Amino acid sequence: STSTATSSKVPAFASHLPPLPDVLETDASSCMFDHFRIAIAKRLSDALPGLTVEKAYEGVDYGKKGVDFTVALPRFRLGGKVDEHAKKVVEAFTPDEYVASITVDRAMLHFYLNTDTLIRTVLTQVTELSSLPSTASDSSSTPSASTSSPNGPSDELNLAQKRYGTNQFGKGKKLIIEYSSPNIAKSFHVGHLRSTIIGAFLANVYKSCGWDVISMNYLGDWGTQFGLIATGFEKYGSQERLEANPIHHLFEIYVQINKDAESDPTVKESAAAWFKRMEDGDEAALKNWRVWRELSVKKYAEEYERLNVKFDVYNGESMVPKEKIDYAINRLEEMGLVSDKEGAKIIDLEKYKLGSAVVRKKDGTSIYLTRDIGGAIARYEKYAFDKMIYVISSQQDLHCAQFLKTLELLDFPWAKSCQHVNYGLVQGMSTRKGTVVFLDQIIKEASQVMLEQMMKNEEKYKAVEDPETVSREVGISGVKIQDMAAKRINNYTFNWDRMKSFEGDTGPYLQYAHVRLTSIGRKVPHLLPLPPPSQIDIATLVASQHARDIAVLLGSYPDVVKVALKTHEPSGVVTFAFRLSHAISSAWETVVVKGEEDKEKAVARLWLYECAREVLAASMRLLSLRPLDRM
Ligand code: ARG
Repeated sequence: STSTATSSKVPAFASHLPPLPDVLETDASSCMFDHFRIAIAKRLSDALPGLTVEKAYEGVDYGKKGVDFTVALPRFRLGGKVDEHAKKVVEAFTPDEYVASITVDRAMLHFYLNTDTLIRTVLTQVTELSSLPSTASDSSSTPSASTSSPNGPSDELNLAQKRYGTNQFGKGKKLIIEYSSPNIAKSFHVGHLRSTIIGAFLANVYKSCGWDVISMNYLGDWGTQFGLIATGFEKYGSQERLEANPIHHLFEIYVQINKDAESDPTVKESAAAWFKRMEDGDEAALKNWRVWRELSVKKYAEEYERLNVKFDVYNGESMVPKEKIDYAINRLEEMGLVSDKEGAKIIDLEKYKLGSAVVRKKDGTSIYLTRDIGGAIARYEKYAFDKMIYVISSQQDLHCAQFLKTLELLDFPWAKSCQHVNYGLVQGMSTRKGTVVFLDQIIKEASQVMLEQMMKNEEKYKAVEDPETVSREVGISGVKIQDMAAKRINNYTFNWDRMKSFEGDTGPYLQYAHVRLTSIGRKVPHLLPLPPPSQIDIATLVASQHARDIAVLLGSYPDVVKVALKTHEPSGVVTFAFRLSHAISSAWETVVVKGEEDKEKAVARLWLYECAREVLAASMRLLSLRPLDRM
């Protein structure tokens, strides 16, 4: 028999339910499904001697359609006949407040939860861990809806706050996540956009799991190309154009001077000499560069704000301390890992099938690889991170593997805490006029495409208060969702028609689903605020398969977040958001609020939709979208 003491993690609203044992790394206070899984695990453990609740818990998985949870008995390796074990569990079964029924399919046991408990506890948990503006709360400790922004509380991105879907398993741990990292003076290409989108998502996921997250942008602000631009700036630079759009102007100069360099070899020489002076810390050579960097960062920060992305630190290749690079190279030499080749220093990684790489150029200047090595050392010294993630295109897989292997060879104990998260290529993201190379052009194009789409429905368009903002937000949502819909590593071809569509699994569809949910409450103001959860009669929800389906999805959301942390894949969250939207849209016709004359029924249904809206918004925010209340 198992000791059954109600865990302190069980929320007050569930304390009347039969007591259950505690299981490590579960937390019913943030995830009611943890509690249901323990209930199932306890049944298995009680019926099968030798199987602990902890071990049984690990075997409780989501079931296929029509089943809530499934357990594959063979995984427990209990010896004897699996059929017999299954029989034992079934024979010992009596329905209770957690589990309504059980079925056997050879070695699989399927569990169907008690619908009443399921719906009531899940909706109550969503409500308690949210700032639902329209719900009066049962307890005064519940976070209240005091946040007011022009777009309503769904506009808030406060993931540090304890909200539904978040957990505290990462508490006390620090993550450095480096993403976006464009090159000043070269173009911000779609690869950087992908890094930005995926990186922002991952930063949100870690924050949601209680981690202390530092978002870092590691600008390509150093290297021989800056010698080139300095040379070019003397010929083609204009202060006025620089200030108007630093990123475009520096790029223009870069393109021009590269052309010149093709026919005139002295250009390259003067560029190299210039960069050498920069590396040696010659203030005169650094003066312009500093201005370029500052103006570019300012411009980027504005564009990131549009994308709902924020960096805590703007770092850059220029800021890697020289002594860290020297230290690393000296140590590699001492360890006999470095050899000379025509004056340059080379590290041989052939043993690891990673080829060889230059670590120091002939003229002594640093390079990309060694700046990454020195940069990692400096970051560890400064932040003592528990984990560091680099979100970089799979085109740089070899570079990253060389870099991470070198850190390992240098014997840093934290080297294994550094991880490269990669992603595939995007094809076809050019404007209708030509090739997009700049972030601001991508944002503008997305807004424009969306605006034109919205204008096709004249009546609706006229009703939109701020079409400019709405079209931009919806357009950006379209770009982001298309980017995150499939596995990171897949290449994909960007499609403007698909991006702007309100049908199918698109960003506009998600925004529309959210707007529709927010509009329900607006249509029945007399039902708001809702009574506290304990006073809502949920009989009408218990009787509806549609309502049950929605509740199951809501209950699974905390797990969706945890899985995203493990896999580093946004696609699972995207899939969840669409499944939820589809379940809601299937419910519209039968689960009616406006027009329902029975007030009890209308209130219960409104509660369901309010919870659904809260969770849909949470999943959208996790994906870095800003859920709209109107469009
Ligand atoms: N600036 C680089 C590029 O555009 C990406 C930097 C990635 N981060 C890093 N630590 N190497 O290719």
